[in-house]
Amino acid sequence: MTKEKVIKLFSEKFGKEAPEVYASPGRINLIGEHTDYNGSFVFPGAIDKGMTAAIRFNGTGSVRAYAIDLDESSEFGFNEEDLPKEGWAKYLFGVCREIIKRGGTVKGFDTVFSGDVPLGAGMSSSAALESTYAFALNDLLGLGIDKFELARIGQSTEHNYVGVKCGIMDQFASVFGKKGNLIRLDTKSMEYAYFPFDPEGYRLVLLDTAVKHELASSAYNRRRESCEHAAKTIAGRHPEVEFLRDASMKMLDEVKAEIPEEDYMRAKYVIEETQRVLDVCDALEKGDYDTVGRKMYETHHGMSKLYEVSCEELDFLNDVACEHGVTGSRVMGGGFGGCTINLVKDELYDSFICDAKAQFKAKYGHEPKVYDVVISDGARKL
Ligand code: GLA
Repeated sequence: MTKEKVIKLFSEKFGKEAPEVYASPGRINLIGEHTDYNGSFVFPGAIDKGMTAAIRFNGTGSVRAYAIDLDESSEFGFNEEDLPKEGWAKYLFGVCREIIKRGGTVKGFDTVFSGDVPLGAGMSSSAALESTYAFALNDLLGLGIDKFELARIGQSTEHNYVGVKCGIMDQFASVFGKKGNLIRLDTKSMEYAYFPFDPEGYRLVLLDTAVKHELASSAYNRRRESCEHAAKTIAGRHPEVEFLRDASMKMLDEVKAEIPEEDYMRAKYVIEETQRVLDVCDALEKGDYDTVGRKMYETHHGMSKLYEVSCEELDFLNDVACEHGVTGSRVMGGGFGGCTINLVKDELYDSFICDAKAQFKAKYGHEPKVYDVVISDGARKL
């Protein structure tokens, strides 16, 4: 939604005095999935879709918020017991609470927000919301919180007020995004590097199955527990191993008999995925998109068969891409539904989209939604 529209809706709700307007994007991730809570690498970029919020202090001790797209309001204070009941308002509340926990003073405000990043599609609508408010409050209140901590405020909101024990990738990408660049982040050292991404002759496109998995957050948390258990067991023999990122397949195989089969499969995927991110970075530097694409298919296979976070519809779209000769394709984000990300040669693009829509509709009764990826800037004031 444009700045003007958000301001107009704000004035209808809260009066004419002008608010400030902030925006933060969702993200894509080229490769490196479920690696961010394993101390490993991710390779995301911010996109041209996200959340936009108008905000103005109201002189009270509470927040009055209106979610434009849902036509719902919420009002809450800043104490732990003031947790709002509306799911979306928990993100705003969590951000305020996490700022307060870090010693910041938050003042009551009125706000409206709207988003064009599809919910539950694996493009991080929730991180976009958290980053918008973390960035806005930090700016408006002059709190001096650095960008890493803004991302951590969003991540802690997920952990403590939403119940998803996520990694840092989504919030990091939403805050640090840079137009035309992917970002390789080492989630252990938090070192990062921008990679200009303009693959000549190729396009990145997302195909959204519109499948939303009800139990995705508990399934996500269980994956994380499996990884931590495997890492801890390995650390029993190799104390230098803090995260799975530090482990090799040889080390994992040594403890194979000591851990459940499921934990072994999850850990194997993570160790292989870590290597794939590094391989993709090398391939990108050489302009070798065939290798990039091959690694994307390998990731899909691992996420489907070892990590078990794909679903029938995503596997179907991945097969269609492969049969159509698409360079790379895989499930993107946490999984359990949402999108595939596809690296497609320009000349195949139209026929692939047409084919994917027709085949998906014939099988599931509706077409997948298609989103072209435009890599854009991170959190900002408009
Ligand atoms: C979700 C989480 C991220 C990351 C991805 C999977 O998007 O929020 O931290 O773990 O899943 O890569």
